[in-house]
Amino acid sequence: MSPAAAAAVENLSAAPARPASAGSRTERLLQRFHEIRDFTTMLSAHLAPEDCVVQSMPDVSPTKWHLAHTTWFFETFILKKWLSGYQPEVPEYAFLFNSYYNAAGDMHRRDLRGLISRPTVDETRRYRSSIDSHIDDLLSGADDRLLDEIEPVLVLGFHHEQQHQELLVTDIKHVLAQNPLHPVFRQVERGRADIGKAAPAPVSFVEFDEAIVAIGHEGAEFSYDNEGPRHRALVLPFALASRPSTNGEYIAFMEDNAYARAEFWLSLGWTTVNEQRWQAPLYWEKRDGKWWNFTLSGFRPVDESEPVTHLSYFEADAFANWSGARLPTEFEWERAAQDLSWDGNFVESERFHPQGATPSAGGSLQQMFGDVWEWTRSSYSPYPGYHAEPGALGEYNGKFMCNQYVLRGGSCATSRTHIRATYRNFFQPEKRWQFNGIRLARDPR
Ligand SMILES: [Fe+2]
Repeated sequence: MSPAAAAAVENLSAAPARPASAGSRTERLLQRFHEIRDFTTMLSAHLAPEDCVVQSMPDVSPTKWHLAHTTWFFETFILKKWLSGYQPEVPEYAFLFNSYYNAAGDMHRRDLRGLISRPTVDETRRYRSSIDSHIDDLLSGADDRLLDEIEPVLVLGFHHEQQHQELLVTDIKHVLAQNPLHPVFRQVERGRADIGKAAPAPVSFVEFDEAIVAIGHEGAEFSYDNEGPRHRALVLPFALASRPSTNGEYIAFMEDNAYARAEFWLSLGWTTVNEQRWQAPLYWEKRDGKWWNFTLSGFRPVDESEPVTHLSYFEADAFANWSGARLPTEFEWERAAQDLSWDGNFVESERFHPQGATPSAGGSLQQMFGDVWEWTRSSYSPYPGYHAEPGALGEYNGKFMCNQYVLRGGSCATSRTHIRATYRNFFQPEKRWQFNGIRLARDPR
């Protein structure tokens, strides 16, 4: 965290001293709780209140809404259930800040979140502090039996908040990108912006033999329900690109007039690209014959060495066709990632932008984690034997298993402690505002 951000966090979280906890388990849970809550505060610390209320499209939520909704999650699923005598200070927040949990009650319309000027940003921050201190009280007074009940939901709340941290970053990028003044979210410190400026090694393909592979999460560590049950899958021989495709490679696709050549596009993609008049990735603009792009550090020339991002599934698929390749399945991707460490350019680096591949890359898989989510050609579907749990928290993943594609690996806006080899992200194929990119795959030659 930069010194300025740290100071801002200190000011914003200048709450009364946290209560001493009763034991190491409580201490560990509360420490993690506050680390995650403070990171959200840090991400929003440099924004003006005016930045925090804009909704630039229905998919985007205002920063203020993310701050409140993540708080609502802890209030609704923990305090209301386990804190005896708990009375919400503002009962109407249950309606305003519910996202999609039908079993938790009615909710405000998603596409109208930008019209809500009250509570103010300050009131929303006070709401966060109030709920945080109730969580402090609840956990500090809980015995092991009660902690056994609370901990799984609390940990789900941690990961839920990390998902919203990523959305906060991608949503504020979309908000700021609408402004012709090109506001800067965070100036990347001098020197760090130059990482990865050298030309990446040419892409190579790593080959994998046919195998029956164990797919899905196993073990006591946290995972989402959509990562299970673990099961066997037949993965035929394939080859996977050594690194994500770059801006330079994507410019070659554009310069080959590929956005106007139907032969590379899925039918729905061709319709979409023409209706939307897409000519380049989201946030790109041509000025005096050169491509520029809007980043969270401002508007700047496109760096050809960086992984290309802000692409729809349709564009990723068309690029793969143009390249004589295809997108990997999620099973191929998981097989390739199973033994790799989860290192990469994540949100904790505070770079907020994908990083160029290292020149030495080649012959092995680089940047599988972090930088850009990688579109797979797998529809987001339940694994064999999957059943969503009953109740509101069962709505978390299962009801979205229709008309979406799986992405793997995390991005520069994902937390390092949020990603796994089995993690399944998912978006509709036309969505472009996330840090979504491409890793090519091939069948054996
Ligand atoms: Fe949520």
